[in-house]
Amino acid sequence: MNLPNPDKKFVLTTPLYYVNDIPHIGSAYTTMVTDVLARWQRLQGVSVLMITGTDEHGQKIERSASSKGVNPQEHCDQIVSSFQKLWELLNIQYDRFSRTTSPGHHAIVNEFFQRVYDSGDIYLDRQQGWYCVACEEFKEERELLTHGYCSIHSNLKAEWRDEENYFFRLSKYQTQLEEFYSSHPDFICPESRRNEVLSFVKGGLQDFSISRVNVQWGFPVPADPKHTIYVWFDALLGYVTALLEPDQEPTLENALSHWWPINIHIIGKDILRFHAIYWPAMLMSAGLSLPRKIFGHGFLTKDGRKMGKSSGNTLDPFALIDRYGADAVRYYFVKEIDFGQDGDFNETRFVNTLNADLANDLGNLLNRTLGMIKKYCQGQAPRLTGQEIPDHNRLKQIGKNLGEKVTHQYSELHFNVACEEILGLIRSSNKFIDESAPWSLFKQGQQSEVEQILYAVLESVRLSAYLLSPLIPQISNKIYQQLGIPLDFNDQTAVNQKLPFHQHSQWGGYQFVQELGQADPIFIRLELPINDS
Ligand code: MSP
Repeated sequence: MNLPNPDKKFVLTTPLYYVNDIPHIGSAYTTMVTDVLARWQRLQGVSVLMITGTDEHGQKIERSASSKGVNPQEHCDQIVSSFQKLWELLNIQYDRFSRTTSPGHHAIVNEFFQRVYDSGDIYLDRQQGWYCVACEEFKEERELLTHGYCSIHSNLKAEWRDEENYFFRLSKYQTQLEEFYSSHPDFICPESRRNEVLSFVKGGLQDFSISRVNVQWGFPVPADPKHTIYVWFDALLGYVTALLEPDQEPTLENALSHWWPINIHIIGKDILRFHAIYWPAMLMSAGLSLPRKIFGHGFLTKDGRKMGKSSGNTLDPFALIDRYGADAVRYYFVKEIDFGQDGDFNETRFVNTLNADLANDLGNLLNRTLGMIKKYCQGQAPRLTGQEIPDHNRLKQIGKNLGEKVTHQYSELHFNVACEEILGLIRSSNKFIDESAPWSLFKQGQQSEVEQILYAVLESVRLSAYLLSPLIPQISNKIYQQLGIPLDFNDQTAVNQKLPFHQHSQWGGYQFVQELGQADPIFIRLELPINDS
């Protein structure tokens, strides 16, 4: 699965999160992964637009606001700021924050609705069925648990609805969608999700309702303001609104003029149907091209159990960052979970992984190498390049193809495999020092061998820091500083202009300036929480 990118532009999105409550770890997970991919693309010199934002309309939000006794807009504003705060704490570099209550979005939704109406795809009919307000979705009776509870929100009962709604003619797009899926086998990823969608579509698509009469909190249907537009019809268009420049007039033409189509929508598996079936059909109806890829990731569990407020085992992302720092949290979730599969959070495993990979393997490697350079090279980096290191040098051999291998894994969204490849070089570097014992060579007066060894290790640390920088930008910054390379991985302009990918992603491509920075631990060992140890 190569991420299609013909024109060095890359647009990627997280879902637009519901603002019924402050962000939870599930929203943080999708956003971290999306940020890692965005940073990886920027590292390669690609012009990136990362979109995130909030989905603010509908009955779920209306009810959350009323239970707090505040008006819905005020409620949304409060919760939105907690999302923005969390993204700042997690060091997320988003380019656009799309809010579905923004005036520009209203104009886009109206224009789009009109287009779909003009295609003859909207009609009035009677809607009867079971509705889960938390999912904002009608459910088939067979999808519900006993006594009518929702299978996703198992503490909530679906509610009976019988009302007049506007419908979208999804059934009309059955064949067109099936043809599209078969001519674009990479459109839905991973494979298991694609199969899920294909079998659902094969079962026959039914039209779905796109308006509500009992919900005030939404945009009115243009020609019939008794109805408000269904929250999902409105929310998916938030991706389009996000493409507008801040001062641009909100028209579809403007929104679609530069960044469309979106390269990848990263979402959780529970909202796959909306993105992989409804959304493409809506776009077909409006005569627009389709996004290039939908990736549906798995769900997070805690200590092997489904996370949920009712089970009292939620994980607060704010508390986690406060305790362990942003890089640690980013690293754990991106490296320890096979992206696409469900993944578990367990605090003992969290602490052990970070201590093993970042404090021991990577941190000690840098520390001991800088220590030896101080002792054996008067604190000056060996004046060598990769070309002067013999081809049989083990680190040169591993490092030689690492940039390509890791690039491939990132572009396949195999983040865990990319990390393992990089850790392979880090672990081999520690072993290489132990086995080549530069301290003995130094005693024997073999200065040039010592310098070759230390250059090879230093360059391996640098390359590892570079390739891991999308996950752990702060730690990579510390490493680059200590290696005497004054570059900031959080500075997008510098990343684009001063860190040429072809040079920094290659082993041996860097010649160190002699003055190294001050040695300082890059990651302090974490302690296990008392009740977990
Ligand atoms: N508002 C819609 C999305 C509209 S996009 C145009 C929505 N919002 S949500 O806030 O409920 O969910 C956002 C994302 O969080 C979804 O991708 C969902 O899969 C994800 N997660 C919610 N709980 C999760 C876990 N426990 N684990 C991982 N992700 C989960 O749906």
